[in-house]
Amino acid sequence: MHLHKYEKIWLTLGVISLIIFLSVVGVSAFSQNHTPAGGMETIDPKKVNETAPFDNPGVTQLDDDTYQATIVAMAFGYTAPELKVPVGKEVVFKVTSTDVVHSFTIDNTKVNMMVVPGRITTKSYTFEKPGTYLILCNEYCGTGHHMMYTEIEVYE
Ligand code: CUA
Repeated sequence: MHLHKYEKIWLTLGVISLIIFLSVVGVSAFSQNHTPAGGMETIDPKKVNETAPFDNPGVTQLDDDTYQATIVAMAFGYTAPELKVPVGKEVVFKVTSTDVVHSFTIDNTKVNMMVVPGRITTKSYTFEKPGTYLILCNEYCGTGHHMMYTEIEVYE
């Protein structure tokens, strides 16, 4: 019967458009969750240690009011020698990973960055209180995940 044939066609079109709709929604939800805040700078994860600024990790002063902290995350730790920054100044954190996905999370602050190999994640933060802050990984990254932490000292 003709009617039956048309119903099949409409049903097929409906299913196809549903699939298209779901994949569009799915893809945009995926990319929203997985795009680290602060841009999409890329880096070759195998060449992190020879690519500036990660060839010289640590804190550098950019100008009177701005510092940059460059940190490499890897299983299971952060290469961050002597992380010391002054209170009340903007600190631009630049973090990347040489292996798997980690996070760069500073306890008691709003800094909670996902660190993805191949990307440079950037976040600015100004500490308002001096002290020693714990930096830890809250993205499960393997057997040593719970040992992945370091500290940053904020001085007056
Ligand atoms: Cu790195 Cu968990």
